[in-house]
Amino acid sequence: MRVLVVGGGAREHALCWALASDPSVDRLLCAPGNAGIAQVAEVRAAAGGEVGAVVALAEAERIDLVVVGPEAPLVAGLVDALEARGIAAFGPTAAGARIEGSKAWAKRVCADHGIPAAASAEFADPAAAHAYLDGLEGPFVVKADGLAAGKGVTVTDARAEARRAVEDALVRRVFGPAGATVVIEEHLEGEEVSALALCDGRRVLPLPPAQDFKRALDGDRGPNTGGMGAYSPVPSVDEVTRRTIVTDILERTVAAMASEGVPYRGVLYAGLMLTGDGPKVLEFNCRFGDPETQAILPRLATPLAGLLQACAGGDLGARDVAWTDRACVGVVLAAGGYPGAYRTGDPIGGLAEAAGAPGVAVFHAGTSERDGTVVTAGGRVLTVTALGDGIADARDRAYAAVRRISFDGMAFRRDVGLRAAQMIEEGAR
Ligand code: AMP
Ligand code: GLY
Repeated sequence: MRVLVVGGGAREHALCWALASDPSVDRLLCAPGNAGIAQVAEVRAAAGGEVGAVVALAEAERIDLVVVGPEAPLVAGLVDALEARGIAAFGPTAAGARIEGSKAWAKRVCADHGIPAAASAEFADPAAAHAYLDGLEGPFVVKADGLAAGKGVTVTDARAEARRAVEDALVRRVFGPAGATVVIEEHLEGEEVSALALCDGRRVLPLPPAQDFKRALDGDRGPNTGGMGAYSPVPSVDEVTRRTIVTDILERTVAAMASEGVPYRGVLYAGLMLTGDGPKVLEFNCRFGDPETQAILPRLATPLAGLLQACAGGDLGARDVAWTDRACVGVVLAAGGYPGAYRTGDPIGGLAEAAGAPGVAVFHAGTSERDGTVVTAGGRVLTVTALGDGIADARDRAYAAVRRISFDGMAFRRDVGLRAAQMIEEGAR
């Protein structure tokens, strides 16, 4: 089959890498792609993620399946537009993507269908929001309803900052229409995990849990980022917790959406807090996680294209997925200064040496090619992943590969998977 992947980050590189090794894929295209993706797929930089351009490209190249990486084109209705032209697409329609595109709507789905989630209230009126905040103890969690490029969530101990978040969204409109409503949410304590599943509208095929590292600095300090690393599986998700996540959250959400007239096809991503009271939803995403996908797909032992095509076609059937028992750790290499201002255009050394080690894959995010050299072109530059016999071994292998790579200002966390590895070691003692 002919497959087109939409997106240009390390998540899409991991998707392309998995699809390129699938014998059922005869041709693989990616728009806009990046320098690493160009090694495994034909990149079409001009098509970007814009709905009309992607549809035109898919028609011109007679694509059998479009796989959409990022949320923005999903929320904008890319899958609806493709399906209207008879082109199969992996990802939810705009109506399904609301699960990520409107936090207030997602909250209502949880409340109406008994899906465990952080308690919350929604406000469009600033005075009402302030009055509600006045009644809370803190820490405070204030979220813009819509997509705000990862900047719409404020978690703070400071009442003044929570008030400011309300003002920014509802009065100053810094998120535009995405912030016309805010959700004020109960603050949950615990460990965060990402639970992803492939969905065909009715059936749910869970992927193994992963954990990502959102803060810029070791020990979960520093500003929030798009994600500085991930690992899978997650030892704090025991079998009982895993089953609860599948039945009470993933399956219940897909059933809820179907009953609301929105059959959900694509990846459902539940960002969860493992609380003393069981797993609870913090947020949903309507797509593969980044960087979780880079740590999950190397463990997949089943060809990917058929699974995605079956989801797109609305019938996973009795299909099952096989996973290796090996663990995977992915470390994000960022440009110095990220998530603030950062430099681009720095040559990257050691890519081939790093990728040459067994079980290692180097996925590109912000890279481009200049005169035959790969240079930095974004804040998150690479995700370096390694499989290992357990998380400690995967960590050793991933960081050994990281040490082979260099570019000016290269920044990364040194503690990806560290606590999980220690937890396993303590358990074994
Ligand atoms: P994002 O939505 O990716 O910007 O992430 C915001 C981050 O804020 C999450 O990954 C959590 O770490 C944190 N967070 C969101 N909601 C809550 C909550 N209800 N309680 C505690 N932490 C939260
Ligand atoms: N890793 C978080 C996300 O993909 O939104």
